[in-house]
Amino acid sequence: MLKNTMVKKIIPHVRLTLGPAELEAVAKVLKSGYLAPGLVGETLERGIARLSNQKSGVAVSSGTAALHVALLALGVKAGDEVIIPAYSCQALLNAVLYVGARPVVVDIDLSTFNIDPQEVQKNITKKTKAIIVPHMFGLMADIVAIKRFSIPIIEDCALSIGAKFKGQPAGSFGVVAIFSFYATKTITGGEGGMVVSSVEAIVDQARDVREYDKKKNFIIRYNYKLSDVNAAIALAQLKQLPSFVTKRQAIAKKYTKALAGTNFILPTVPVDYHHTFSRYIIRTPQAEQLRTYLKDHGVGTGRGVVLGIHELIKTKASLPKSKQALREAVSLPIYPTLTASEQQKIITLLINFKS
Ligand SMILES: Cc1ncc(COP(=O)(O)O)c(C=O)c1O
Repeated sequence: MLKNTMVKKIIPHVRLTLGPAELEAVAKVLKSGYLAPGLVGETLERGIARLSNQKSGVAVSSGTAALHVALLALGVKAGDEVIIPAYSCQALLNAVLYVGARPVVVDIDLSTFNIDPQEVQKNITKKTKAIIVPHMFGLMADIVAIKRFSIPIIEDCALSIGAKFKGQPAGSFGVVAIFSFYATKTITGGEGGMVVSSVEAIVDQARDVREYDKKKNFIIRYNYKLSDVNAAIALAQLKQLPSFVTKRQAIAKKYTKALAGTNFILPTVPVDYHHTFSRYIIRTPQAEQLRTYLKDHGVGTGRGVVLGIHELIKTKASLPKSKQALREAVSLPIYPTLTASEQQKIITLLINFKS
């Protein structure tokens, strides 16, 4: 008997947009015989600094390294407190613990998935040395409200490169900001990260600690350098950022229009915000059933955030909104190469989901 060799075509949760520009950029670096951090990384540094209206950029090996370096450059150390949202990436927790500080975990605004300024305010103490503000899923947090507390802010733009508030770019509000070029990000280098700032002392320190070699004195430094191979991919992607974002926004618009009559809670775009839709996250009390149903029909999904920070460390905070987001979020495929027929398939499945 003939075996059924038909392979079921899956729509993955994330699919990269890589083409001739990335191939050419990598080939150029390989042909140069120089893979260490060099001119390509420097061009990427200038590009990301320009994008975020900051004076300088320091390329590093990941977003996590960028957070670590940013905390070091702000002088955060053991005994200090750093405020982070419970509903965020574990990278934030790791970075705070790397410098020996105490993470103070606060709740989010459920309508945006972003850190809630009022919760930040309630948790500020004399020991608070920094607030890490991740802009979640392409939508900026209420950074203007958080700036009023006059505590140094590390803007975490890992999920929101290209996002804006009142025309001002993500990364331009904090004393320092970071980016990630991990494989699933809006623009990728495979791996990679960036610290940007306009404060010379912060930039100098970030540049100093990312590399231990050829130094005249000894302090603890790291190997957080970014190879020009990764930088070349990220730079080729950076040039396409506007078109990547436009395509994501068009898909988001289509989803929002088509799903308006369903019971799903859809992402909203508050006035004055430019949402880049690095993720399109809907909420439903049947999140697990929905994810299984979509998977059974060949559609991959994510959860936005898989584990809250409060699930990793002890905290007395109650964090109801973060917990609800963790229970209810379903992240749908959204990327420039998602075809019209794939979008339609996803929409039809969602409309037919029996909740
Ligand atoms: C908000 C946020 N910050 C930081 C990071 C860490 O970036 P990386 O994976 O490049 O270390 C991530 C990673 O997903 C993230 O989502």
